[in-house]
Amino acid sequence: QALSVNDYLRQHIRTVPDWPSAGVQFRDITPLLQDPKVFRVLIDAFVHRYMDRGMRPDVVAGLDARGFILGAVVAYELNVGFVPIRKKGKLPFTTVEETYELEYGSATVELHTDAVRAGDRVLLIDDLIATGGTMMAGKKLLEKLGATVFEGAAIVDLPELGGSARLRAGGLPLYTLVDFA
Ligand code: PRP
Ligand code: ADE
Repeated sequence: QALSVNDYLRQHIRTVPDWPSAGVQFRDITPLLQDPKVFRVLIDAFVHRYMDRGMRPDVVAGLDARGFILGAVVAYELNVGFVPIRKKGKLPFTTVEETYELEYGSATVELHTDAVRAGDRVLLIDDLIATGGTMMAGKKLLEKLGATVFEGAAIVDLPELGGSARLRAGGLPLYTLVDFA
């Protein structure tokens, strides 16, 4: 019985208990990037979905920091541009910003005002969806500039945290490859 792509990828995600704090099972995606065969399977899982006519984005936006690794490679393969959504204080030009709640405290992300144009269809990429706060903030930034986020994509979903359900309920379709309960 051949392993599905999803199970193959799952086998290359490392779980680190109690990191960065007690009780957290950290899903570490670095082994997926380290092995060139696995990295190609991973990137192709995204590229094949978005290559189709009707799914091709105008722009790929990636979320700081692990979303940059995936997003940039997927954009390159799709022959579209890549724009970074960064944690506050890193982008040099004029920005729009969005603040959202974390488990403890809050975070602010920024996007250059000329990163997308009104009407652009954007694919928003990150490595993982937990509470969904980061991806929701990214969607709001892109919408402030008049773009439409037609889908959010990530390697990992943690469905028990409710983020993916909230994002979908808020009108954002999602494509994820591996769930961890
Ligand atoms: C992690 C992950 C996502 C976010 C998911 O990033 O890479 O961006 O958390 O959590 P959420 O769905 O609850 O918002 P982190 O803030 O650890 O930043 P990093 O990528 O810079 O390490
Ligand atoms: N970001 C939020 N929760 C996470 C987890 N459990 N593993 C990896 N990144 C995360």
